[in-house]
Amino acid sequence: MAEDRSGDLGPGHLWMEGKTLVELRADQERPTHMPRGPAKRTGPGFLNPAMAPARTRSVLLMADALEHDWLVKPDHDLRALDALCATGVRVRRWRNEIPDEHQHRLRITANDLDKVALVQLKAAHERHPPSVAVGHAVEDDRYEREPQGEMHNGLFVMQNDARITLMEAAYQWVDLDPFGSPVNFLDAAIQGLSRTAFLEVTATDTAALTGSSASSQHRRYGAKGIVDSYAHDDAVRVLLGLIATTAARHDRCIEPVLALFDGHHVRVSVKVRRSRDGASDVLNSMGWRVRQANGTYRFVHHPSPEEVERASGPLWIGPLWDRDIAGRMTQERVVAVCSPSESELHAHRAVGLVWSDADQEYAQRELRRSVRYIAEAADLMSREHTLYHMDDLPNMAGTGQAPKMEALFAALHEAGFAAARVPDIDPFFVTDAPFPEVMATTCALVGSSTD
Ligand SMILES: C[S@@+](CC[C@H](N)C(=O)[O-])C[C@H]1O[C@@H](n2cnc3c(N)ncnc32)[C@H](O)[C@@H]1O
Repeated sequence: MAEDRSGDLGPGHLWMEGKTLVELRADQERPTHMPRGPAKRTGPGFLNPAMAPARTRSVLLMADALEHDWLVKPDHDLRALDALCATGVRVRRWRNEIPDEHQHRLRITANDLDKVALVQLKAAHERHPPSVAVGHAVEDDRYEREPQGEMHNGLFVMQNDARITLMEAAYQWVDLDPFGSPVNFLDAAIQGLSRTAFLEVTATDTAALTGSSASSQHRRYGAKGIVDSYAHDDAVRVLLGLIATTAARHDRCIEPVLALFDGHHVRVSVKVRRSRDGASDVLNSMGWRVRQANGTYRFVHHPSPEEVERASGPLWIGPLWDRDIAGRMTQERVVAVCSPSESELHAHRAVGLVWSDADQEYAQRELRRSVRYIAEAADLMSREHTLYHMDDLPNMAGTGQAPKMEALFAALHEAGFAAARVPDIDPFFVTDAPFPEVMATTCALVGSSTD
């Protein structure tokens, strides 16, 4: 029987994300190269270009896992599921952009409830196939019942409730990218993971995560927030806290690899391991952020009654990133993995991609931006540090103005401390220098306001 392609809206117009050709609906405007913020959703098959940097980082992390064997043993396959894949740009990017030498180890499943989105995924993948043909058979031995889906050119496509797909077979890599909050999917995602696995979660309900919507934060995340300079970091830690405690309930522990507040969403990527002892230890990494009189904060396991008003939590107070993995996410690496070669670009143009040299320059700039500051901050973000908002420094130090960030870093480095900018829409930095040192250095650079 011929496959039902009634949702195929035709090729629409072509766009390129990373080095993958993407078919946008004819009525979706050509994205700018620097889309920001939540996009207006215009119906099934709408692609949110503002999520491109998160998809780019996902490609880099998966390539890194295969190259450095930190998730599955060398030569073993990696089973990856995008549980809410929509038109499948992420899975198609995994298939197109992970270096060829690793493709044969990758088994990719794409799932979504939306039939029209899946028809578009299959049509785009057929019209613009990956350069390496991967001939995986359907792994029906891994499913308790016959899997409802079809193999399409190296992608196994399923139309299911994500919670069912997540529970039906064990995946080593799961991506959860829902509209809004991921809470409804977390239990199923954690339970469905294999013994050692990797979970990437997006949450766009930033009002709830930061605490600017206190009741949603309390309902969904069981947390209380304070909307100040630390709200972005709190949002990341509240989501990590929920993932850690959910994992612990299923005898698993987490190790964060990358966790970012990326404008209108939070995205966290964690290793998840089955370990009763590790799960029991999770409370050591849960706590509260208590604001201090000097404008900074300290983490505590339990705030005292007097501290509760100045405290946000419960949240994850452990390390946020993996030093080595995040340290390899450099701008050179992203261009090497995700930017098309001249011949790939030529081939894309030959099938109708309208892409000027300026487009290519902007696209490369955007790729670099998606990992900007990550490698440099990797060491500090994986150990104890203090976070500062640049705009708070003048008040904290009584200087009336802030020094240039580069000058401050140079002075702190000179004094033997580490300091680095954090990837965030706001100018944040982290350092291991003690508070008096940061204040003295700020004063030395810009003078105190009473000078
Ligand atoms: C934000 S979109 C995913 C975007 C996609 N990951 C990407 O990068 O382009 C969320 C998707 O979740 C799907 N969805 C919502 N609830 C679902 C459920 N219970 N099971 C499966 N898919 C669901 C929607 O159809 C939608 O396509």
